Amino acid sequence: MTRESVVLVAAGAGERLGAAASGPKALVTVAGTTLLELALRGLRDAGVRDIVVVHTPGHARAFADVARRHAVTRLVPGGETRTASVRAGLDEVELATEVVAVHDAARALTPATVIRAVLDAVRGDVVAVAPALAVPDTLKRVVAGEVVATVDRSDLQAVHTPQAFVPDVLREALAGADDATDDLGLVERAIAEGRVQGRIALVAGSPRDLKITYPEDLDLVASLLAADRLGPAP
Ligand code: C5P
Repeated sequence: MTRESVVLVAAGAGERLGAAASGPKALVTVAGTTLLELALRGLRDAGVRDIVVVHTPGHARAFADVARRHAVTRLVPGGETRTASVRAGLDEVELATEVVAVHDAARALTPATVIRAVLDAVRGDVVAVAPALAVPDTLKRVVAGEVVATVDRSDLQAVHTPQAFVPDVLREALAGADDATDDLGLVERAIAEGRVQGRIALVAGSPRDLKITYPEDLDLVASLLAADRLGPAP
């Protein structure tokens, strides 16, 4: 069996959630469950056994309470930026790990099938994998408030997390990187610069892999969870 680990970055402040987040975003509750617990549930359902949670510094105890109930393997404080938090989590991953995925706790409803597909796709010369979806909206390029172009969306994909990697590939890609919202982008750069060899692959993503960012997103998550409880329509 492949030795796999997931680094769940959960150290963000969640400022865009506004009043909904009086503490760390990952500890915001929807229908009685924290976003962190929902994200952990998805990882467990996907069969992930080794999980490193990167938590908000200063909130170790609250995170530890959740971690204990969900058999989290390790808990480590995050950094100033998302990339610093990814580095902190990756440092805790065992050297024997063959595939490591980085996942945003803010994507609390990622289907287990997507998580499994991403992890399984790292093999052969494929060294980095992400879930992606075609972009349904028309896109405009806007500069200083002026529409300057309509972007051809036919070859565009929106990329989500979890993103899975050969651990040494991610380590090399992170070397010297500033803050990045997308670890796959760092691997793209490392391949282009000849620092890393291998291919990147995308697998089918899901609209449920949304990144909870604004207060309205919490309402959407609550509706989706309520619909889950009702089960499929007869
Ligand atoms: O801020 P944003 O929504 O882009 O964050 C994406 C993910 O990165 C979230 O799960 C957040 O908790 C995490 N993050 C982090 N450390 C930071 C900033 C963000 O772990 N310093």
